[in-house]
Amino acid sequence: MTTIFEALRESHEIQRDLAEKLLQTSGDTAERRELFKQLKNELFAHETAEDRYFYIPLMMTDSGLNITRHALAEHHEMDEMIEELTATEFSNPGWIAIAKRLSEKVHHHLKEEEHGFFQQAGKILGEEQKTALAVQYKNEYQRYKDMKKDMLVQS
Ligand SMILES: [Fe+2]
Ligand SMILES: [Fe+2]
Repeated sequence: MTTIFEALRESHEIQRDLAEKLLQTSGDTAERRELFKQLKNELFAHETAEDRYFYIPLMMTDSGLNITRHALAEHHEMDEMIEELTATEFSNPGWIAIAKRLSEKVHHHLKEEEHGFFQQAGKILGEEQKTALAVQYKNEYQRYKDMKKDMLVQS
């Protein structure tokens, strides 16, 4: 049985890979546009499903309150950088500097989740809950991956 932690890590690997590849691009190219679209969609689907089926249940417990607030604040920071990149021309020389900040934030956040929050959550959530949340998370994640995200992304 897959646990919520294993399910979350699958998307983390995709995010790291896309962020690295995005930093190798330069100028307004099809490659940069495609990689940015993929990273934006991946982050959106992951964050939404992770908020709903990992952090919200944790937030309902006293010991999960702090990690949840911290993580949700970082999700918001990443969303803002995605918005900033969306509003900046791909050809703008400053684009890559913003992308680098986003990549650093993504790496920092994933490391903190995998090496801190997951361990703490492991003590809070019950065994059955860990596998049940994995199923719910995966369904929600897939639902958002299948949508046209540009119509969804909030302003
Ligand atoms: Fe995550
Ligand atoms: Fe997260």
